[in-house]
Amino acid sequence: CCFLLVDANRQPGEPTVENGLIPYLGCALQFGANPLQFLHSRQKKYGHIFTCKIAGQYIHFLCDPFSYHSVIRQGRHLDWRKFHFATSVKAFGHDSFDPRHGHTTENLHQTFLKTLQGEALPSLIETMMAHLQDVMLRSDTLSPSKDQWEVDGIFAFCYKVMFESGYLTLFGKELGEDKCQARQAAQKALVLNALENFKEFDKIFPALVAGLPIHVFKSAYSARENLAKTMHAEKLSKRENVSDLISMRMILNDSLSTFNDVSKARTHVALLWASQANTLPATFWSLFYMIRSPDAMKAAREEVQKVLEDAGLRVDPSDPTLTLTREQLDNMPVMDSIIKEAMRLSSASMNVRVAKEDFLLHLDNQEAYRIRKDDVIALYPPMLHYDPEIYEDPYEYKFDRFLDEKGQEKTTFYRSGRRLRYYYMPFGSGVTKCPGRFFAVYEIKQFLSLVLSYFDMELLDPAIKVPPLDQSRAGLGILQPTYDVDFRYKLKSTH
Ligand code: HEM
Repeated sequence: CCFLLVDANRQPGEPTVENGLIPYLGCALQFGANPLQFLHSRQKKYGHIFTCKIAGQYIHFLCDPFSYHSVIRQGRHLDWRKFHFATSVKAFGHDSFDPRHGHTTENLHQTFLKTLQGEALPSLIETMMAHLQDVMLRSDTLSPSKDQWEVDGIFAFCYKVMFESGYLTLFGKELGEDKCQARQAAQKALVLNALENFKEFDKIFPALVAGLPIHVFKSAYSARENLAKTMHAEKLSKRENVSDLISMRMILNDSLSTFNDVSKARTHVALLWASQANTLPATFWSLFYMIRSPDAMKAAREEVQKVLEDAGLRVDPSDPTLTLTREQLDNMPVMDSIIKEAMRLSSASMNVRVAKEDFLLHLDNQEAYRIRKDDVIALYPPMLHYDPEIYEDPYEYKFDRFLDEKGQEKTTFYRSGRRLRYYYMPFGSGVTKCPGRFFAVYEIKQFLSLVLSYFDMELLDPAIKVPPLDQSRAGLGILQPTYDVDFRYKLKSTH
């Protein structure tokens, strides 16, 4: 049977190819069922690099972390734009951002760096912190009380709080007096609609990336278009406190592109998706694992208390106006480790590059492999994240795994006695590394700091098992839990 699976067209010097049992789909089904298990078994059989035919495409999986560098460094043979731009067009339906297609001359990468990093961060952090507290304590999204426990799913809770806060942080609020009740209700309805539409669309995202046309999914298609309707320039221009990211993208859409209005609006939908789709499950896993581990909870609580005390801040749910600066957030190594460990266990983002021409890929062990033009090379970071040589007991959550002896960030990880350059990659790598990664970690830290400060929280069932990861999104980012986990919370009594 193995003989049948191996490609007769293979040339000497190329990685071993496995075509799978089914024409066209190839290994897709086996890969999809359990990617990590599939890749491990092939690695055992074929070594550091091998090729699978998945949905008609030859994909070379590189499994040796010491060779990652040859793919991550921006070499002249490898192209990242082709895959990324095409994926976004398939999913969101806007015109291509690839400058070679002639619809725009915007350098998106630069736009992201300018508006999501460095000097852009303090105001994103400040706005997010205010929205988080409004949503948790002032609006009627949650209605926590001091005397009574509220029961909710952890994922549902994170979804509500993070979606609304993140949405308002990027897209601002409608202009007008906040005190007017009718306006508040309309504002709320807009966010809730956006949340429902986002969920509906997000469900079929993996199918779109796999190449299925959106028209097959009627309700997801209308969900996406409903989102786009709220993001037409004339709608956005009636909003205040719009983030630099969205305002700059509006200006560049108008000045550098030939996109029509619908296409422009869809580019904003793409950013809504990028800013939420991974953050929501990452927040879930961080909160879930933290609540489930009494040691993590204690250490996190102490860290937050200390930061607030040092800053002279008092927690008062009737006046929820805590602020944490970027420097204060940077100084929370326990929280960092709690989040990192949660993402180590739940991230499954595939890193992909396309070969621009035939070339030789050199591995760390001096071997070289022939790669053909248009072939895809993929790194699958869960291979690192679940490697028992790098992370002892890799399936266990240890909140302090990313802390050193001094309680500071740990950055030295080894495999076979050699220090690893790449050991943690939930945000991708090289030029395509997530430009929102700093903000993403800040917002999760803010969220955790606030729930710890304002609420008492408990799992309904303290012995509950970790819900399995929903593998249908393997390759696309942070995986969701297959089911939600209930917890209860109430306002802390302040003395
Ligand atoms: C791209 C992860 C949050 C904005 C990406 C990629 C990954 C990723 C894996 C693709 C990298 C690649 O293809 O190699 C995450 C995770 C997040 C998160 C795990 C949360 C825990 C955010 C947030 C924002 C954001 C909050 C914005 C506010 C983007 C953008 C891209 C991107 C704009 C596309 C970059 C490009 O194509 O040049 N993210 N992300 N992300 N992310 Fe994030």
